[in-house]
Amino acid sequence: LAACGGNSEDTNDASGEGESSGDEANTEESVSFRLAHNQPENHPIHLSLEEFTNLATEKSDGNIEIQIHPNGQLGAEREVIESVKAGTLEMAKVSAGALEAFEESYKIFSLPYLFESEEHYYDVMDNSETVKEIYNSTEDDGFIAIGWYTSGQRSIYTVDQKVETPDDMKGLKIRVQESPTSIAMIEAMGGSPTPMAFGDVYTSLQSGILDGAENNENALTQNNHGEVAKAYSYTEHQFVPDILIINSNTWNGLSDELKQALIDAAEESKESHKDRWAESIEEAKAAAEEMGVEFFEVDKQAFIDAAAPLHDEFVSESDTNAKYFEDIKSFAQ
Ligand code: GCU
Repeated sequence: LAACGGNSEDTNDASGEGESSGDEANTEESVSFRLAHNQPENHPIHLSLEEFTNLATEKSDGNIEIQIHPNGQLGAEREVIESVKAGTLEMAKVSAGALEAFEESYKIFSLPYLFESEEHYYDVMDNSETVKEIYNSTEDDGFIAIGWYTSGQRSIYTVDQKVETPDDMKGLKIRVQESPTSIAMIEAMGGSPTPMAFGDVYTSLQSGILDGAENNENALTQNNHGEVAKAYSYTEHQFVPDILIINSNTWNGLSDELKQALIDAAEESKESHKDRWAESIEEAKAAAEEMGVEFFEVDKQAFIDAAAPLHDEFVSESDTNAKYFEDIKSFAQ
């Protein structure tokens, strides 16, 4: 007789010959996860994660339930990565920038001017072996990645001093992610990097602890930074992806069917996130202008040149770095 009790993993019986005897939804184990992230509920990433969770439920015939905890409710990115590692939280969406503190190979995503265009970036994220290897590189540390979402292009913005050349960066305290590569990047560009959690940026801009920060345009509106920072300069120095991570034991305890449901749900929601993102950026620009934010073009080549030594350093650090770098570059145009 068919044992269909709760968490037993034994149900991969030579797959769907069609004689499912009653009791459909429970022939698999059912699981219930929490997924944390640090953005508000009207942010495009929240909407895409809602799509992800709905698709996961649908594709698993109701066997996967995921509850989203937005707004940094369960902690800043560093903290939620710790929780996923420890297994006290099953899933999180965090920036690749925050993952660098946990696994070296994630630093490649914070290398300034690594990707030559949005097409190049999307192609690498969707199709490269490098990204797959990096996703699995942390399995023994307690988590793996199963997908990504675009978080656009990052540029520098300040409270009031427009930045057009690296010279303008002198003396400016610019918030960066807790990423050694982003710290080195702002130094190379001539500024003073201040690493801090994303949730502390607004008040630090307000109180003058920071002169500026760097992020996509949604930070101005969705996170209200545009209330305080009025000069957004298009340095377009990084595409740092958002990454969907899951605890290794949680992952390894799932049947192949449930793993596939999660991967397919991540893939599908990642694709629609690309359009959702593009739209949100148009809206953010218009809304930020209404808040009094001005947008400036910069001498981009001067920033590219200033940041170039970071590429050489990265490549010369290890053979793996060199291999990843070359693989990513091979996707250009
Ligand atoms: C982006 C990213 C967030 C991250 C933030 C940051 O907005 O999507 O996940 O927290 O950058 O700069 O820390």
